[in-house]
Amino acid sequence: MMNEFINGNDLDGGLREPLTQLTQRIGFIPTSISSLVSFAVELFTLSEGLSPSTAAVREIWSHSVRTGYLAALIAETHSDCSQVIWQSFAGGLLHDIGLLILLSQEAPPFWGVVELALTRGTNLQVLERECYGTTHAELGAALLSRWGGCQEVVDTIRFHDDPFRNSETRFCPASAVFLANLLEGGGIAQDSDGVPNAACEAYLLRLGLWDHIPYWQGRMRDLQNVSLR
Ligand SMILES: [Fe+2]
Ligand SMILES: [Fe+2]
Repeated sequence: MMNEFINGNDLDGGLREPLTQLTQRIGFIPTSISSLVSFAVELFTLSEGLSPSTAAVREIWSHSVRTGYLAALIAETHSDCSQVIWQSFAGGLLHDIGLLILLSQEAPPFWGVVELALTRGTNLQVLERECYGTTHAELGAALLSRWGGCQEVVDTIRFHDDPFRNSETRFCPASAVFLANLLEGGGIAQDSDGVPNAACEAYLLRLGLWDHIPYWQGRMRDLQNVSLR
């Protein structure tokens, strides 16, 4: 099954390293997770064809692969449950699929929203709610829910920018993806810009993740510079 991802088109390429590493360390990828990875590959491939913003779709894909892999690494150190590790990987891969909906359906006005977020220095999701009445996190969670994704990964997408709103208060895939996404810097400007606010800081402190940020920053720099480009 893994080779289906690895030997496909360019979008699949970045999956080789994380999938190889993770399967070697924590065991074979569960069917439920491989279905989610296939879904991500299909969705990004379709979006690349449909969206007038091809370069942005590719950039979000790379961002998502790096986020998924770092999230899995974080989960490995904070959980001994392989399901949590794989769900963290899948959640990172899928966390920004709501952006694909906006880029495919609403590209010109959506780029205006991104521009406005940059100009104002406002979090993208705040402006999305003002303009669309929803956010890319909520859109992505709704899409995966309709396609039968497990609740943990749906919640990871929904709460990837504000996991302290999640009913799960312990370390979970949403925690890992939140930190990985924060450190990756966001696939689109102002979408988690690498600067945690007070609520984020309190959340990371409570879970014991705060003190490990410098280490994970270093691991993310490695992923950005070498492994997953
Ligand atoms: Fe996002
Ligand atoms: Fe992101």
